[in-house]
Amino acid sequence: MTAENRAPVTVIGLGAMGSALARALLDKGHPTTVWNRSPQKADDLVAKGAVRAATPAEAVAASGVVLICVLDYKAVREITSSLGDAFTGRVLVNLTSGTPEEARDLAEFLAERGIDYLDAAIMAIPPMIGQPECLIFYGGPTAVFEAHEQTLASIAGGGTHLGTDAGLPSLYDVALLGLMWTTWTGLLHSLALVGTENVKAAQFLPYASAWFEHVIAPEIPNIAAQVDEGRYPDADSALGMQAAAIEHLVETSRAQGVDAELPAFLKARAEQAIQRGHGGDGFASLIEVLRKSTAR
Ligand SMILES: NC(=O)c1ccc[n+]([C@@H]2O[C@H](COP(=O)([O-])OP(=O)(O)OC[C@H]3O[C@@H](n4cnc5c(N)ncnc54)[C@H](OP(=O)(O)O)[C@@H]3O)[C@@H](O)[C@H]2O)c1
Repeated sequence: MTAENRAPVTVIGLGAMGSALARALLDKGHPTTVWNRSPQKADDLVAKGAVRAATPAEAVAASGVVLICVLDYKAVREITSSLGDAFTGRVLVNLTSGTPEEARDLAEFLAERGIDYLDAAIMAIPPMIGQPECLIFYGGPTAVFEAHEQTLASIAGGGTHLGTDAGLPSLYDVALLGLMWTTWTGLLHSLALVGTENVKAAQFLPYASAWFEHVIAPEIPNIAAQVDEGRYPDADSALGMQAAAIEHLVETSRAQGVDAELPAFLKARAEQAIQRGHGGDGFASLIEVLRKSTAR
């Protein structure tokens, strides 16, 4: 597709992310219409060639593909509910972050009104939008995704359709965010620990990096395979043995005056897994406790 025949696209919501989406569309040559509740946020985009719509209805009417990226699903609901049948014959792609339940509720609400809908989760920060490595998950009817895949490639090279369930993009999103936060929190906890003896983060960094590279990362495919198989063989470092080291981590955290909640959580879950008969299994057996935790 050449820049001359790019599909017209509307972007509703021009915060940091919505503005980045509109900029990427303009860069790729899409006729781009924009609307934001606070109109001045459209000024830079209009200077770049975007058309400013006076109302959300005018914005929707301008394009066959409408992207919405606002603060939350409550705002999406307010905007979509006020537009009645303005979306008929168009596709709404919602790139606002939320929960799977919010996504499924919205998909149902729009399906009842005959509106084509794709839910999306952006796994990137605004400067990455439009780049080949930018990952966006989509969920919704396959035919709708395929019809607009090429247009959506203008905002992210890594557009991935997860299937017809509108809730899956949000589920993948929070799962990856959880992975990021727990990993970074683990790093920060280790830096807090060594920091109690005036060890600078930079001094510890080579060991943390090597630990990620040679111990943590190579084990990930094995953990994933064991989780899928539901069997957790590990002759070298069984959970029963590891639980003792976790106990040292709890004690040392307390003794050094560092928050011991994170290691205490690990210790409690390891003990539960051992009680359930996983003492001779590997670390991946903790999934059994996390899946069926009674701690809510
Ligand atoms: N920024 C990131 O790194 C990033 C990464 C991935 C996903 N996301 C997701 O993308 C979405 C937008 O993020 P952002 O960074 O663009 O946030 P932001 O800069 O805070 O912008 C929020 C946008 O939502 C609009 N808005 C809020 N409530 C509204 C309402 N009731 N009616 C109409 N518009 C309303 C705001 O309009 P006004 O300008 O009038 O206030 C603004 O355009 C969020 O769901 C966020 O989680 C962001």
